[in-house]
Amino acid sequence: MAEFRLPPNSVIRPGKEWPAPEGASRPRKVIVYRYDPQSGDNPRTDSYIVDLDDCGPMVLDLLLKIKNEIDPTLSLRRSCREGICGSCAMNIDGRNTLACIKPIADIDGDIRIYPLPHQPIVRDLISDLGNFYRQYAAVEPWLQSSTPAPERERRQSVEERKKLDGLYECILCACCSTSCPSYWWNPDRYLGPAALLNAWRWITDSRDDATEKRLESLDDPFKLYRCHTIMNCTDACPKGLNPARAIAEIKKRLIER
Ligand code: SF4
Ligand code: SF4
Ligand code: FES
Repeated sequence: MAEFRLPPNSVIRPGKEWPAPEGASRPRKVIVYRYDPQSGDNPRTDSYIVDLDDCGPMVLDLLLKIKNEIDPTLSLRRSCREGICGSCAMNIDGRNTLACIKPIADIDGDIRIYPLPHQPIVRDLISDLGNFYRQYAAVEPWLQSSTPAPERERRQSVEERKKLDGLYECILCACCSTSCPSYWWNPDRYLGPAALLNAWRWITDSRDDATEKRLESLDDPFKLYRCHTIMNCTDACPKGLNPARAIAEIKKRLIER
């Protein structure tokens, strides 16, 4: 009988355990995924005990405290620390989200922190988003107009501008695409919810004249139609956007066409 199992080097092993700091008044265990693909070692989870009475309120504060005061070898991405840049996206307590706007107080028990799922790992909590960015580039996310550039801005009515609300706010954190089962199975051929939300952002922009070309390129069984409306993407988006609805709008436009 066929036997299915993970390759031995993908099995996550228990790693180092760091003790509680002396005199900690509110100790909490933080379990963090660690992996250095160049080392040849398996991934592991290290456990740190952090005193929450001596730490900022967000999960990013916790990780930076670990990195600055306990274990400088921990690698993670972050920049703005206010939910704008998208670089601190990771899987916290079983959900994809932004570490800088995830309150520690929202998590009961041990705090488990992993990188975004189903992406190659550069190191520790840093996943390789090269494929994700290439898919974003593939939808040509810029204004394409057939009319000469005006002296000042290209104008829109209030109603036309309103259509971009809920779309232009995407910060490309990848929380949605990396929580989508269809994207996990076909990351090379399905564009995923983030790229598709951005495709719809330009299709629905009244100033853009490439609508037909954009729709034509999406009319593909894999690029678009791998979406089975599972809705994980919308559930995961830390900016409250609705990629599943944007995908449904593209499908509707294709049917109308
Ligand atoms: S709605 Fe579509 S894009 Fe969103 S998680 Fe489900 S399959 Fe993926
Ligand atoms: S739609 Fe939301 S979850 Fe997806 S990349 Fe944009 S901001 Fe992140
Ligand atoms: S650090 Fe920029 S979104 Fe978290």
